[in-house]
Amino acid sequence: MNLDAKTIRMRLVEEDDAEFILALRLDENYGKYLSSTDASVSKQREWIRRYKQDEQAGIQYYFIIERQDGVRCGTVRVYDFRENSFCWGSWILNQDKTRYAAIESAFLIYRFGFEVLGFAQSHFEVMKDNQRVIAFHEKMGAEVVGEDEHNLYFTIQKAAVAESKKKLSSKIQ
Ligand SMILES: CC(C)(COP(=O)(O)OP(=O)(O)OC[C@H]1O[C@@H](n2cnc3c(N)ncnc32)[C@H](O)[C@@H]1OP(=O)(O)O)[C@@H](O)C(=O)NCCC(=O)NCCS
Repeated sequence: MNLDAKTIRMRLVEEDDAEFILALRLDENYGKYLSSTDASVSKQREWIRRYKQDEQAGIQYYFIIERQDGVRCGTVRVYDFRENSFCWGSWILNQDKTRYAAIESAFLIYRFGFEVLGFAQSHFEVMKDNQRVIAFHEKMGAEVVGEDEHNLYFTIQKAAVAESKKKLSSKIQ
């Protein structure tokens, strides 16, 4: 599994990433649109230990996003595998990200979900007041398929991602 892009790459989370992940999720700039996280490193380590069992079983995959020089700059996770669709989330990039880390990591997650796992569609939710991220997904070709008080629910097709990748190729290659 080669998850390398022009300026960033992704690798599976390890227990020693606990401090890094906790700092990201507890940062008020990044964590406010995510589900809440217990502020304890030992609980985070325990969460990762349990996650590694899911990883072995092929139930979910949690990635660290790194710059090509090895500096960690974010996280992203795929989970909730359905018949033809995978969900992704826990997507955060911090101040160490590269300019197009968001686009590159989104395309890497789609490569993983569509090419490695073999799904034809992806689904995810975004909080309604997270306008910037909503705009990101809409530009990428995602469609709103539902909503509730707090969230918009999106799906995106493999073909829509391929189309966006062509359009954005000058930025990401
Ligand atoms: C979600 C998150 C990872 C996105 O990363 P980001 O760097 O903010 O993403 P951006 O939308 O700024 O995109 C990065 C660059 O790609 C550009 N871009 C994004 N999509 C594009 C598109 N379809 N076409 C052209 N350019 C595009 C942006 O304009 C930006 O470039 P700029 O700096 O020149 O303006 C980050 O905002 C974050 O960590 N947020 C907090 C946590 C969060 O909300 N997670 C999502 C929960 S659903």
